[in-house]
Amino acid sequence: FLVEKGNFRHFMAKEMHEQPEVVAHTLAHYIDMANETVQLPTDLPFDFTKLERVSIAACGTAYYAGLIAKYWIERYARLPVEIDVASEFRYREAPLPRDGLMVVISQSGETADTLASLRYAREQGQHVMAVVNVPTSTIAREADVVMPTLAGPEIGVASTKAFTCQLATLAAVAVAAGRARGVLSADEERRLVRALVEVPRLMNEALKLGPVTETLSRAVSRVRDVLYLGRGTSFPLALEGALKLKEISYIHAEGYAAGELKHGPIALIDENMPVVVIAPYDNVFDKTMSNMQEVAARGGRIVLITDKTGAEHASLETEATLIMPDMDPAITPLVYAIPVQLLAYHTAVQMGTDVDQPRNLAKSVTVE
Ligand code: G6P
Repeated sequence: FLVEKGNFRHFMAKEMHEQPEVVAHTLAHYIDMANETVQLPTDLPFDFTKLERVSIAACGTAYYAGLIAKYWIERYARLPVEIDVASEFRYREAPLPRDGLMVVISQSGETADTLASLRYAREQGQHVMAVVNVPTSTIAREADVVMPTLAGPEIGVASTKAFTCQLATLAAVAVAAGRARGVLSADEERRLVRALVEVPRLMNEALKLGPVTETLSRAVSRVRDVLYLGRGTSFPLALEGALKLKEISYIHAEGYAAGELKHGPIALIDENMPVVVIAPYDNVFDKTMSNMQEVAARGGRIVLITDKTGAEHASLETEATLIMPDMDPAITPLVYAIPVQLLAYHTAVQMGTDVDQPRNLAKSVTVE
């Protein structure tokens, strides 16, 4: 069927702005709002308490959603997670635990490597859970459990709303697993559910950063390379930020764990290199800031994405500071995705690239 751009110049812009709505819709599917609990299908073919480990495979943006889920599942359910890009997973003959759980994540549900990973896992006797946006897709059909992301059709090649809906779904899985395994108390579950329910409102706040990111994009569109840094769940988001920028603006970008800066990329820092730092005021904020001092000392141009408290504690000269609303640290990846997407989008528009159909890329990669 026909999907229209409405008042937006590009599908990507429309899809970014749909996020509060589609994430709310996805959360409503997994949350019992009256009881403030997470609700997964009751007939799961596996038992979270019996799992030793979870394996995840996915490609591109879906892989980064999986990386964030690893932090959540390990923290909230104390369940070890192994994650690979699907093109590696499918050939590395990973030994998988008996009766284990494999999670594949895919917007299209047709990505060849992800599908091959699913099939390998099934042959190895795994229960396969698919977090998938297209319910009629091959991956949805072949999985044992389908966890739909209710993002609606995504047309822009660079994934935005599918990513945040994947995160919403995976957060629900992490909380459900944590509850089932007795790691999270009912109170802790309620706290996390309340935080998740706030996400759509916070995303609307974050979308107001459009004009600031547009101004910033004028400077970014003139550089050759950009570095994205983050720690904890902000690290995979840094990877996603770099991917988004290179996909649609063709500017070279790299995402790095903030603590790894000194092991290489610091050599690249000079007054021409913007460093986008994703640093909500959380338990690793101070660590990230000390890494930023190293960037500042070398004349690097820092773009800091943080909240009010973070900005007050930063004591750092930045080229720009994007101030995000305050929120529970558990949900920052969902909301901080917005400024990261906006920056890539406006930079690409500045450069005059084909934002929705970037060169050499396909929405769905059904070949190896
Ligand atoms: C392509 C798309 C990306 C997407 C990746 C995985 O590279 O351009 O946006 O993240 O495939 O696709 P999937 O449909 O499996 O999520």
